[in-house]
This record gives sequence, structure tokens and C-alpha cells, in this order.
Amino acid sequence: MRTPVIAGNWKLFKKQGDAVALVEGLIPLVKDTVGVEIVVAPVFTSLSAVCEKISGTNINLSAQNCYWEEEGAFTGEIAPGMLADAGCSHVIIGHSERRQYFGETDETVNKKIKAALKGGLVAIFCIGETLAQREADSTFDVLRTQVTDGLAGITAAELAKIIIAYEPVWAIGTGKTASDDQAEEAHAFIRGLVTGLYDQGTADAIRILYGGSVKPENVKGLMSRPNIDGALVGGASLKADSFAGIVNFQK
Ligand code: PGA
Repeated sequence: MRTPVIAGNWKLFKKQGDAVALVEGLIPLVKDTVGVEIVVAPVFTSLSAVCEKISGTNINLSAQNCYWEEEGAFTGEIAPGMLADAGCSHVIIGHSERRQYFGETDETVNKKIKAALKGGLVAIFCIGETLAQREADSTFDVLRTQVTDGLAGITAAELAKIIIAYEPVWAIGTGKTASDDQAEEAHAFIRGLVTGLYDQGTADAIRILYGGSVKPENVKGLMSRPNIDGALVGGASLKADSFAGIVNFQK
């Protein structure tokens, strides 16, 4: 059985005071939720404040990005070990906004995943096709390349510390969710890729999240599909009640 993961990606929102207020609102709404891995990903400067508030709760802390070196003359970067030191258990890697605006490639994503694992973090590895790629019928080719190159050199044992997030770029922040069928089709394909690269047991164990305009209203349908193991949530994670509505999809 794969434990579902519901992760909130706060992107470039919420200074410390607002971030703390958000988790303070969230904690009572999810405190009785069992069997769901709950993750929030604030901006770097809010990590410590949020960490303090969620200590002893069932909420886990994630960063939104990291660098691949442990330390050195890399002004402005942050290392996985430093994120772990700040209380993070997870880190999002290769989000489409990072690929689109900050030049991340499958190769740099691969380096970051390896560094995250070495630094003791669970990597939430994001993939997904753009609208142009979907319309050109190249979705599966894009996903194959992203998965193969992103996971290059990573062992089956290490894969236990990786969560894949399938986020069709055209569904992010647009209000256009992939249909349950479209999402399930992509997830089944991704799991098949993992089977080919590793083995059936490894593929059966890995969690594959869907991301792109997930809301309390559409989460149930998505989660009812066999290959969808959770959600990476942007907009709807910025309010305690809507994020809790997604976390509590079983109720
Ligand atoms: P969204 O963002 O839920 O606002 O579409 C998802 C994401 O970018 O992870």
C-alpha cells in the first residue's frame, strides 16, 4: 500500500507572519488525519518559523528548491544539508516554473535529486509536458525523457526516497485540471517507465502525485484512480480550509 502524499507548494507567497498564521490554521484541521503524508513548502525565509510551529504535529516541512553542492563559493544557493538542518524532510525539485524561468534541465534536476538524497531529504521530483507538447502528441516522449534523465544513476534503493509529481504545465495555476482519465493515463505510463528502468516492485512502491489546479472539489476523483497517489497543490494550498479539504479527501 502506498501512503498518499498531499503537498502544498506555497511558491513565492507568505512572509513569516502569514506563513505561521497559515499553519496555525491548518494544524487543527488536519490533526486527526491519519494515513496521509502532509507536506508544506514555504519560501526559504519562512522555513524556520514554520518548522517551530509544526514541531510535534503530523505536518512535514519541504523546501521548494536546492543546489547540488554541499557548500562552497556559490553565492545565493542553498544546500540540501542546510535545508535538513533548518527542519526540512522534503524538497521539491525540477518544478516546471524552475525549468521555465530559471533554466533547469533534466541534467541539473538529476544532480539536485542526487544531492537531496545525499543530504537526507525526500525529493519531490516534478515532471510534466507543456500545452504545445501535448498538442504535438509528444507528451509520452517528454515524460520518458524527463523520467529517464532525471533518474539517471539513481538506484532502486534510492528511489524509495523519491516521490514523482506529474504536473502538466498547462494545468498549473490555470484552473484547467487534467481530467481524471488524462491524469491516470499519464501516471500509469510513468509507473510503466519506472518498471522498465527498475522493476515491478520498485514501480509499485513509488508514489506519483498529480499537480495542476487541484482543489477540494476535484481531489476525490483524482485520488480514486489506481495510479494517483496524492497531489502537489499550489493555489489551493495557500488557505488552511482549502488545503485541509484536499488533505482530508477521504472524509
Ligand atoms: P496549482 O499549482 O495548484 O496552483 O495549479 C500546482 C503547482 O505548481 O505545484
